[in-house]
Amino acid sequence: MKIREAIKISIKQFKQANIGTYGNDAMNLLKTVLKKDEIFILTNPNYKLSDEQEKHLYTLLKKRLMLYPMAYITGKKEFYGLEFLVNEHVLIPRPETEIVVEETIKIAKTINAENIIDIGTGSGCIAITVSNILNKKVLASDISKSALYVAKLNRDRHKAKVDFILSNGIDWIRKKVDIIVSNPPYVSKKDYLNLSKDVKYEPKEALISEDGGLSFIKYLIEHSKSLTKYLILEFGYNQSPLIRSQNYLLKILKDLSGIDRVAVFKFF
Ligand SMILES: C[S@@+](CC[C@H](N)C(=O)[O-])C[C@H]1O[C@@H](n2cnc3c(N)ncnc32)[C@H](O)[C@@H]1O
Repeated sequence: MKIREAIKISIKQFKQANIGTYGNDAMNLLKTVLKKDEIFILTNPNYKLSDEQEKHLYTLLKKRLMLYPMAYITGKKEFYGLEFLVNEHVLIPRPETEIVVEETIKIAKTINAENIIDIGTGSGCIAITVSNILNKKVLASDISKSALYVAKLNRDRHKAKVDFILSNGIDWIRKKVDIIVSNPPYVSKKDYLNLSKDVKYEPKEALISEDGGLSFIKYLIEHSKSLTKYLILEFGYNQSPLIRSQNYLLKILKDLSGIDRVAVFKFF
């Protein structure tokens, strides 16, 4: 099979499966299988895939047709201009989380923050980006050992000054810090059932929280009062009323769809 046929077959099957990103997906599958860039693929339509590459392509095609996320197939996702390694143990970084990073950087610069902690770091995308932009040390935690393994790979890849700690919640913090930042699990069990199939391949513990999705958010707000000056928090599309009813709320930022998405609390 030549590159031109491989692209044609992939696009046809993606279209039949109603996968709207068929063009990009076909290109990304080939990039992954051939370990070549887009320019090579576009300029070598007659390049012949080896039997092994052809088999690999069909395996990945089958996975993608079952809505397995493209980021897990390629093993990468871009976030804030950096490429992060991802696998099924970490949430795939989302564009809305870039607002969390932006706000953290802004506040950190304003108060010349020295101590920043990222709770539930997953791939490490928030901690690593913030650390590299500010050129400051960041401490990051997660309850998942497998997630921290990926986060450490990303830290080394981006030469970031981030230390990791395997821990549950924030009660392990002993000394008051400047900023606690978190994109916590905030999906309710009910909403989880209605999420698209691709999201269901992501770790459940990264998404679901008890108490209608609010349990971890309430815990963070309650427990961080004595532990930090600022708490910067991403939250769910329908959680604005709870967030707005809290004391110490400094501001709420909207995502690109105009939905309340990030809260900043100031505790002093
Ligand atoms: C929504 S994901 C966010 C991942 C990453 N920060 C991002 O923005 O892409 C939430 C993360 O919190 C972690 N987590 C869940 N419960 C936790 C807990 N009790 N303590 C610490 N981390 C927790 C999950 O393992 C997951 O990596």
